[in-house]
Amino acid sequence: MSPNSFDWLNKDVHLFVVIVGFICLLYLSLKYCWLCFYACKTFVYGRWRKIDLLSHYGEYVVITGATDGIGLEFAKQFAQNGHSIVALGRNESKLKNVKAMIEPLLFDGRNVITVQADLNSTDTTIYQRVAEQLRPFKDRIAILINNAGVGTGKPDEFLNISEQEILTNIHVNIIGVLMVTRAVLPFMTENRKGLIINVSSMAAYRPVPFGACYSASKKFVQYFGSAIRYEYKKYNIHVQTLYPSFVATKMAEWSTFGKADSVLTPTTYEYVKSVMGTIGRSNDTSGYWSHAIFGTLSMLLPSDLYNVIADYTKTVITIKR
Ligand SMILES: NC(=O)c1ccc[n+]([C@@H]2O[C@H](COP(=O)([O-])OP(=O)(O)OC[C@H]3O[C@@H](n4cnc5c(N)ncnc54)[C@H](OP(=O)(O)O)[C@@H]3O)[C@@H](O)[C@H]2O)c1
Repeated sequence: MSPNSFDWLNKDVHLFVVIVGFICLLYLSLKYCWLCFYACKTFVYGRWRKIDLLSHYGEYVVITGATDGIGLEFAKQFAQNGHSIVALGRNESKLKNVKAMIEPLLFDGRNVITVQADLNSTDTTIYQRVAEQLRPFKDRIAILINNAGVGTGKPDEFLNISEQEILTNIHVNIIGVLMVTRAVLPFMTENRKGLIINVSSMAAYRPVPFGACYSASKKFVQYFGSAIRYEYKKYNIHVQTLYPSFVATKMAEWSTFGKADSVLTPTTYEYVKSVMGTIGRSNDTSGYWSHAIFGTLSMLLPSDLYNVIADYTKTVITIKR
């Protein structure tokens, strides 16, 4: 056989490799162009031209975990937007403070109502009581923010997390979301409109070693939100899931990222202001531009590398006490 008898094959293989390479390049270019366009639409256009949530959804915004952090900031910014607020919290004296803080921000004729409910409970009658307290203004219930959540503190192996912490995680992060939604959603289906915002976490993007319980509980929130988004679309009810990375609140205090002193850690004000622009523009969003970049990059890492980085950084980003 002459040395050149496979030349035709070499040419075809060459052409094949060039075509496949071109298609891959085109796919990746289109994908990243789309991501950039989507990011601009969500974080730039959304902030510039906010949707009028008051006329779109209605008056009352029910917020769980409204006594601190992100939930308290949601209460303030929705009140300044002309909404009435229902603040759910476990601590009566913190709820009184919330009322005092929100009242001066309200528009004329608007209201702030506080509802005491400890979501770390196996007593499901608390959710019936929540529904009862909302019933007098049921036709004006517009938005539910399932925000209350707990972490398991600094990253650690699963067996080092106490039984109590595990159960609290499940009660507040999972059962609380399900049962509060179950209490509020019937009013929205009756009204034939509504918005539910579920606060998950970037920890739901992929399994987080040394944060197994929290990460899995937030994945639950993601799946639940995506499923009911489809189920209740016909009632004109929208469901958005938020996946924040670090926001400067007491939940993030264990970490060197817990203070708002870097571009990766916004204050609650900056974070919620940015989220307000994403409402109606993105069903699933981190809510903040630098979190979106961080999240996209972290998704590109192969699992083994991601796990090694998580293992290494857990000690570096944990504040030693
Ligand atoms: N901060 C972050 O870096 C970060 C990152 C990703 C996701 N998130 C998520 O964002 C959400 C808000 O967290 P945050 O950062 O604002 O934390 P936070 O400052 O600790 O606030 C959490 C809120 O949930 C309430 N809460 C806790 N346990 C409760 C219970 N058993 N019953 C009723 N309410 C309860 C708290 O009430 P008290 O005021 O009584 O404590 C507080 O109002 C959570 O779902 C969290 O998982 C936060």
